[in-house]
Amino acid sequence: MTDILPFPPGFLWGAATAAYQIEGAWDADGRGESIWDSFSHTPGKTRDGDTGDTACDHYHLFQQDIALMGQLGLKAYRFSISWPRVIPAGRGKVNPAGLDFYDRLVDALLGANIEPLVTLYHWDLPQALQETGGWGARDTCAAFADSAALMVRRLGDRVHRWATLNEPSASAFAGHRSGEHAPGFRDRKLALQAAHHLLLAHGLAVQAIRAVEPGVEAGIVLCLWPCEPISGSQEDVAAAELAWRQGDAWFLDPIFCAHYPPAAWEANGPEAPHVQPGDLAVIAQRLDFLGINYYSRSLRGAQGVISPVPGSEYTEMGWEVHPPAFRRLLLRVHREYPLPPLYITENGAAFADELSADGCVHDPRRIEYLRRHLIQARRAMDEGVDLRGYFAWSLMDNFEWANGYSKRFGLVYVDYPTQQRIVKDSGAWYRGVIARNGVEVEGHAVSKGSRPAGD
Ligand code: FCB
Repeated sequence: MTDILPFPPGFLWGAATAAYQIEGAWDADGRGESIWDSFSHTPGKTRDGDTGDTACDHYHLFQQDIALMGQLGLKAYRFSISWPRVIPAGRGKVNPAGLDFYDRLVDALLGANIEPLVTLYHWDLPQALQETGGWGARDTCAAFADSAALMVRRLGDRVHRWATLNEPSASAFAGHRSGEHAPGFRDRKLALQAAHHLLLAHGLAVQAIRAVEPGVEAGIVLCLWPCEPISGSQEDVAAAELAWRQGDAWFLDPIFCAHYPPAAWEANGPEAPHVQPGDLAVIAQRLDFLGINYYSRSLRGAQGVISPVPGSEYTEMGWEVHPPAFRRLLLRVHREYPLPPLYITENGAAFADELSADGCVHDPRRIEYLRRHLIQARRAMDEGVDLRGYFAWSLMDNFEWANGYSKRFGLVYVDYPTQQRIVKDSGAWYRGVIARNGVEVEGHAVSKGSRPAGD
């Protein structure tokens, strides 16, 4: 008998998706255009020119997808609202068909006993708002708060848990600094201003949510990607620390401490954002939960990012598999910030999955990735971290942004030409984890698994 590490009763087991990555139906029933439509429709922006036009066609297949969630035994499902589906131009006229879609989705989830966790913004800004400045424009913040109020008015009687933004760091930096994501700018100053406006939009949205439904829970989802030093030398430690402050702490500090990290502010010099009096108080709203997305760490030395790390395993994304950093991260944020209860809102891995001749998808490396991260999360809970739930990324394979359909993260395989869904071995394994509310301490040997010490 393998030993099982049990989780507390009521631990919320789920899986996550995002609107643009799965819905498709990009121009159906009055949906407006988003920055991801225009970005992916621009040649050269995504791998093989892939777009989210059809994606997993979840807009039409949501009932069958909810049946699949039922088969996996999910207790919760995290999805996002496509803002241009409900307010095509971002502000003003509402699209009733868009609202009806989310209404039906929520009712079907509740009918299947699956708790919805709604993300209000997962990167698909209405294109019309981009044309008036997007996240570089302060006005976008109020438009977002209005859209949040609209959604809570419509669904707040049934949806108890609301996240404002998914990963503002990615919206700001991948969208405005590296240009890998929509809207595709490469402008460091604009990126920091967009980050500030995203934070402000979050604060205003929390206020708007509570004004409509004081009883619901409001939070945010941050991607935390810890920067760890390659050695204990002062230079390496200082480099890792500055990178952490310019990255994850740039969002954690304003939200939980109402200030930007001073060392990072200074390092940003003239690129630091314009902040108006009162902004930080708006940003630092009390939260009911924090959602953490964790995938990997970044190893740093005085000379910069160290990659690949010798001896480490990597996923198809080129992300190092290093579960112990997950526990260290949870303990660090627990120590350093006055946190509300936590949920892991995303964790998962892309591997080169294939449909085998036996009709199955055998993905032992994903099982090991998930299992080892769950063990680290559970250990962190023993050390005081108030973790209430875990959402695997992702329910099913989907449009992986600039990587298009080339990267598969799902517990469920999607055969895109036929839209057939096939539960992978990892999906079946996850069903077992949920059913017994615990995870096996020992894994199965997988080919490339040189396991680092401490794991
Ligand atoms: C996260 C995103 C999610 C997905 C995963 C792989 O940063 O929130 O949409 O793309 O990465």
